[in-house]
Amino acid sequence: MAKTKTFICSACGASATKWSGRCEACGAWNTITQEVPLSSGPASKSLGARRGSAVPLSDLSVDEAPPSRAASGLGELDRVLGGGLVPASAILVGGDPGIGKSTLLLQAAAAFARQGVKTIYVSGEEASAQVRMRARRLGLADAPVRLAAETNLRDILTTLEAERPQLVVIDSIQTMWADNVDSAPGSVTQVRATAHELTTFAKRTGTSVIMVGHVTKDGQIAGPRVVEHMVDTVLYFEGERGHQFRILRAVKNRFGPADEIGVFEMTGVGLAEVTNPSALFLSERGQPSAGSVVFAGIEGTRPVLVEFQALVAPSPLSQPRRTVVGWDGGRLAMILAVLEARCGIPFAGLDVYLNVAGGMKIGEPAADLAVAAALLSAREDAPLPADTVVFGEISLSGALRPAPQTENRLKEARKLGFTAAIAPAGGKIGSGGGLTLTRPADLTGFVGEIFGAG
Ligand code: TYD
Ligand code: MG
Repeated sequence: MAKTKTFICSACGASATKWSGRCEACGAWNTITQEVPLSSGPASKSLGARRGSAVPLSDLSVDEAPPSRAASGLGELDRVLGGGLVPASAILVGGDPGIGKSTLLLQAAAAFARQGVKTIYVSGEEASAQVRMRARRLGLADAPVRLAAETNLRDILTTLEAERPQLVVIDSIQTMWADNVDSAPGSVTQVRATAHELTTFAKRTGTSVIMVGHVTKDGQIAGPRVVEHMVDTVLYFEGERGHQFRILRAVKNRFGPADEIGVFEMTGVGLAEVTNPSALFLSERGQPSAGSVVFAGIEGTRPVLVEFQALVAPSPLSQPRRTVVGWDGGRLAMILAVLEARCGIPFAGLDVYLNVAGGMKIGEPAADLAVAAALLSAREDAPLPADTVVFGEISLSGALRPAPQTENRLKEARKLGFTAAIAPAGGKIGSGGGLTLTRPADLTGFVGEIFGAG
């Protein structure tokens, strides 16, 4: 039977009949590659043509104990997993090459193994000797982890079938190779096939499978959507190369809250847990300076304080620069527009740079007011009063919306020695956590209160 070739988008997994520069399904550029489709048999033969066997049905109300979770003892990891590892779950850990995924998972494997979880670590990227050397350097050589350096998925599954571990780490999914699929390792077809095999193995045997996935340069795991929907949990390991902070972020979790983060620090002897991230993110802060504002944010279930830094300078360019690190560029444009339209403060002819200190990425709309404060403070060259945190969402009308979990934010600020907070009027605030509160009703009021005139 002749195998038909097809074209697949490596970003969203959509197939096409001919090559094109842009995927029609997701709009990504240069992601269409030619591959052999997963099922190369005639697609016209309907499943209904031959009868299958009946599937047992059950009620929703069956009494079953909640899954018993295995904790690793690494608090930051356990929290991101939603309280520990659930049996039979498939987990994808994505991240840039070199960010520390292998280090994290070797430490996790060792931690679980030390808690009595039968663990196998399969490396498709490094030789066993290399992994052992790293384990020795991290002080994990005595952990009862079984190790294999292999890429042939058929052999790996046969081994797992015989060993029946409770946890297996596959580093990485892009190096795995299923010999029944006629496609190169790392291709969308192979990644999809191997992830599917491993997920099915997890469901069938009760083994938890953690797969490592490298992110391509545009921020996507190769074949990402197809793998993401297959697995129970998707975690991203992020951080800036030049910074020692690393953040493990849950973007999907069938067994716990999404948006939860765990914070680690890369040290000479592996990743160390950071149990008080606010203190770490603010540790590089010096004297209060213009353009620097502390935002009281919420990441997952935890309040986290981070510093926004803005720089505003006259621009020699006809189209001034807008550079953002750690926040959304579109959101910055919106705040600049609102400041101009509602408060009459123009940024035309000025370059604007915005940065979140410590390599943290913030996605919360509640950071709007902190960003506006940083921009104004930089523009006026006037530092904000010291020991003040800022949070609140700005709407296009210039009105301020209260942020969720206000009390938790204030409590965290208080704990770290802040004495004042600026937050929108409205919303439940309780006692204010002992902080001096400034509560403007809209952006104009905010500008007036903080910088004198509007
Ligand atoms: P690694 O876990 O190999 O990254 P990934 O699997 O995501 O590609 O981590 C590689 C980087 O981590 C490497 O640049 C060195 C650094 N590192 C440390 O700083 N300290 C350590 O103890 C280890 C093991 C690695
Ligand atoms: Mg690696």
